[in-house]
Amino acid sequence: MAVSATFSRLNLLPRPSLPYPLSTFRVLKFRPMWAPLTSFSAHFSTPKSSPIPNTQIPRAPDDDFIVLGIETSCDDTAAAVVRSSGEILSQVVSSQADLLARYGGVAPKMAEEAHSQVIDQVVQEALDKANVSETDVSAVAVTIGPGLSLCLRVGVRKARKTAGRFNLPIIGVHHMEAHALVARLMEKKLQFPFMALLISGGHNLLILAQDLGQYIQLGTTIDDAIGEAYDKTAKWLGLDLRRSGGPAIEELAREGDAKSIKFSIPMKQHKDCNFSYAGLKTQVRLAIESRNINAEIPISCASDQDRSSRADIAASFQRVAVLHLEERCERAIEWALNIEPSIKHLVVSGGVASNQYVRARLDQVVKKNSLQLVCPPPSLCTDNGVMVAWTGIEHFRVGRFDPPPPADEPEDFVYDLRPRWPLGEEFAEGRSEARSLRKARIHPSLTSIIQASLQQQR
Ligand code: KG4
Ligand code: ZN
Repeated sequence: MAVSATFSRLNLLPRPSLPYPLSTFRVLKFRPMWAPLTSFSAHFSTPKSSPIPNTQIPRAPDDDFIVLGIETSCDDTAAAVVRSSGEILSQVVSSQADLLARYGGVAPKMAEEAHSQVIDQVVQEALDKANVSETDVSAVAVTIGPGLSLCLRVGVRKARKTAGRFNLPIIGVHHMEAHALVARLMEKKLQFPFMALLISGGHNLLILAQDLGQYIQLGTTIDDAIGEAYDKTAKWLGLDLRRSGGPAIEELAREGDAKSIKFSIPMKQHKDCNFSYAGLKTQVRLAIESRNINAEIPISCASDQDRSSRADIAASFQRVAVLHLEERCERAIEWALNIEPSIKHLVVSGGVASNQYVRARLDQVVKKNSLQLVCPPPSLCTDNGVMVAWTGIEHFRVGRFDPPPPADEPEDFVYDLRPRWPLGEEFAEGRSEARSLRKARIHPSLTSIIQASLQQQR
């Protein structure tokens, strides 16, 4: 599979000021990321029998360092090289768009194969475009969850091989934290605490970011995420899925009448900040069936009348899908300001945040509440390696990382992957009776791990 899109030396982004005093870097000692916590002792199961001799201890974070980030949690194979100043030295993304278009969704086994085919090439290209080699890199950051186990494994294996061979520390990254924190790479004014709405194919999260690794979950989806609803609507409308369903719906919606079909806004009766898109999906499917739209006929071959009918559905769907976001954000802002009155920003990130209509509508909500919207550029909203490298940089600076894995790690080594891994602790007052979330096999949240680790250090 060819590497479909590459971005090299995106020096257009402003260099942020560092949120930590540089002097703190030098005093940091090398220590495993979660060393104090024996129950989930390390991001990766570093064998206790192989302590690193002092001579092999990697450099502690310095003022200026470089991190390689690797992302394979879903259907994009991505890598990037980022400097601690925030300068993006390279960004490479290989998307599985052809597979998506062919199968109408992500099939884990096929996605794993596609990742395996391109991972070496993607990482090498990221290093080449950055004009660095592994020896210039201070650490490797990799997404360890949430996501598809089979896919996460490909990135983690590559990261550990690279880190093992070059004796580099490794930082296990939470995919959704990375979506939120990448906003701090491009917006230097963005300090904690801030709010974030993270909207992607698999997640719909409203969080209050109190500090690095410390999040309160104000709302989540009780069934599908908004990106899934965009993707299914696009598939049922016979749209070209090669750029994924979201952009196809956004484009077609511009031609339609957004008020022509009266879809109802989900969860109006639940006065909380949770989301639900399964019901809206059903409403859309029924509307498509009742208009005899045939998804087998691609939109490019549809008659004018058929096209206009599909555009009306796309526009009406998008309006209501985003109204649901707006309504939840309004309430979340109220809750968040009660907890942290100093909040000034709402970050909107994740694939769906690249949508211009979504941005414009949320900008109005935010302005009404005297806050500021921070949206990363589209290439940093959809899955990418930059967000992983940057999140690695943020954690590395404060000494949260794991020791280099052994260079000769066996192929059958059991990696610590976290397919179901909440970001924050649920806001107790915001719990909804409508929640039907499966709790089985959920990993303790990133926030609870960090808090336990901080307590043990005190
Ligand atoms: O964050 P992301 O790249 O991957 C996940 O972590 O899921 O998000 C992918 C989702 C897909 O559902 C895709 O259709 C959606 O983001 N998306 C969009 C747009 N671009 C990507 N949805 C609406 N409008 C867009 N322009
Ligand atoms: Zn994502």
